[in-house]
Amino acid sequence: MSKIIALSGSLRRGSYNTALLRLAIAAAPAGCEIELASIREIPLYDGDVDAAGQPAEVVALKEKIAAADGLLLASPEYNYSLPGTLKNAIDWLSRPAKDIPRVFGGRVVGLMGTGGPGGTRLAQAAWLPVFRGLMLVPFFGKQLFIAGANKAFDAEGQLVEEATRTQLADFMTSFAAFVASVRHAS
Ligand SMILES: Cc1cc2nc3c(=O)[nH]c(=O)nc-3n(C[C@H](O)[C@H](O)[C@H](O)COP(=O)(O)O)c2cc1C
Repeated sequence: MSKIIALSGSLRRGSYNTALLRLAIAAAPAGCEIELASIREIPLYDGDVDAAGQPAEVVALKEKIAAADGLLLASPEYNYSLPGTLKNAIDWLSRPAKDIPRVFGGRVVGLMGTGGPGGTRLAQAAWLPVFRGLMLVPFFGKQLFIAGANKAFDAEGQLVEEATRTQLADFMTSFAAFVASVRHAS
């Protein structure tokens, strides 16, 4: 059994990226358990607060990730790049830097996103150096860029097009197999 922590880069109640993660969790094959965790309670990064002791919400999320086999992120694209909201949470989780190998090192990260016409291509590219810094193992087997989020999803947060549903299912099957293979190799 593989365990994955999923994080959405959007706090919006009606977030398409959170809807995408919910569908991804439902599409995950047996043997791959995915927990949708929240970054809502993570404060803005402040080195003084960090030096005085990490907030309980940060420590709790760090330990969740340390106990898992990997991460699945759904990231919106903001101003042609990654969203500060999720980056801020990741920045907290990456401190102190000596914890990176224990919390993130060797864990798989899958990335998907939905947004405007580019379907978060630029945001997804911007995440790559962050993954490198965290010593994560990126899943590159499939890509998922869902363009035109407001038309791709219906009011219930379901994907409208059969082709997109198939793409998501294929992504999740491949991602779960990759997580299992990395897990067994380590
Ligand atoms: C500050 C801001 C900047 C944005 N910049 C982009 C962008 O560069 N590219 C894009 O495709 N969409 C952009 N958008 C639109 C988002 O893709 C859209 O709001 C999307 O629904 C956000 O994801 P969510 O539904 O998960 O909240 C931007 C939205 C905001 C709020």
